[in-house]
Amino acid sequence: MEQDLDPSLPSSRHLLSSILAMEPSHCVISHARACGGGSITGQVQQFIWDHCLSAPGDFHAPYLKNFLKKLISQVESDRGYVLDNLYELYAHYMTSFKDDSLTKRDAKICKRISFLFPEGCSELLSCPHSRAVVFSLQCSLNMLEGDTGCSIWPSSLFLSELILSHPELFSNKSCFEIGSGVGLVGLCLAHVKASQVILSDGDLSTLANMKFNLELNNLNVEANMTEGNKDPNMVKCLYLPWESASESQLQEIMPDVVLGADVIYDPACLPHLVRVLAILLNQMNSSVCRQHSSCKNLSPNIKLGNGEPNHENDIEICDGRCKAIYNDGSSSMSKEAPVAYIAYVIRNIETFNYFLSLGTQANLDIVDLTDSLKPLNLLCFMQSFNQASVRLLRITSSNIQ
Ligand SMILES: C[S@@+](CC[C@H](N)C(=O)[O-])C[C@H]1O[C@@H](n2cnc3c(N)ncnc32)[C@H](O)[C@@H]1O
Repeated sequence: MEQDLDPSLPSSRHLLSSILAMEPSHCVISHARACGGGSITGQVQQFIWDHCLSAPGDFHAPYLKNFLKKLISQVESDRGYVLDNLYELYAHYMTSFKDDSLTKRDAKICKRISFLFPEGCSELLSCPHSRAVVFSLQCSLNMLEGDTGCSIWPSSLFLSELILSHPELFSNKSCFEIGSGVGLVGLCLAHVKASQVILSDGDLSTLANMKFNLELNNLNVEANMTEGNKDPNMVKCLYLPWESASESQLQEIMPDVVLGADVIYDPACLPHLVRVLAILLNQMNSSVCRQHSSCKNLSPNIKLGNGEPNHENDIEICDGRCKAIYNDGSSSMSKEAPVAYIAYVIRNIETFNYFLSLGTQANLDIVDLTDSLKPLNLLCFMQSFNQASVRLLRITSSNIQ
């Protein structure tokens, strides 16, 4: 049975969101059929026209041309009636775009990714009144461009759903992402009000594209680690190849939360990736020590100028929390141990096992949280994304457990 077409209703929202996200035509067509009770009725075509095609604006014309071709052929094969406007727009694209423009692999496109909150989510700080959070992302049609960083990979969709579903894990925390690609995770972190968002990548063209996307979504970009900026819309973007990232450079970051999406895939990079994670996660001692003149329990070798150990302030670590205890008996600076959330798709089990063994050697505790920390299904319209294909790891340093 044909359903009401109203952008506030789930089936209509799914249809519009799938066009905005440039989902494959067959996925969009299945949403169109769902809206029309099984067929792409005139009313459904009119709805698509009114909300997406009448003002195609910055839509990728080759995508629309291909979509219109498939839509029209589906309606015709159902012996349905095709809206004149759709025929005319298709004819316009046929004459305006030669087929070679469709196949330019380095072409940039702009996808709009809509995270749709189900009913009953209004208490979540990430859920806006409209129940939809929409980000625009410039990406490449070439999956390998920018060392793979100019495409949206499934793990970043998963991590984004996680951040929006569990904002309490990230809001008011300093968050640092490695291999950030197009910057989607950073947009979600800024949305849930992380106290600081630092993104990074080891590819310069990816970094440039990431900055473009942050600005496209009204965030301000800062390229270095200058202290003290309290602009809530400020995101830092760092050029940070894991191979050359120095210990002091990483220690300057001192995040509460480290994130990574689809970064476990190249065996040659894994030793460097694990080294970066180990330094970032093993920082509580150095961060506290830097703020205090001594650190007896963690660094017993720190001595005063006269050679005596300095017991002025002691640091205790208990249950992953860090506490500074002063001689006058007071204590302060409780800080949770840093934690990493890494989302990944297993494409090669040997590569993944190699990552695990390197992690163990580096004293990292790696726990699979996939079954215990599930995100909401905020991208349920996106048939090209399978949330269940992504796994989630929680990594901490066993040195400071
Ligand atoms: C598969 S993409 C994932 C991008 C993004 N996180 C996502 O999930 O959509 C891998 C990302 O890691 C970055 N990367 C790969 N090797 C790296 C290295 N050695 N140092 C820093 N970044 C690296 C790439 O530039 C790319 O942005």
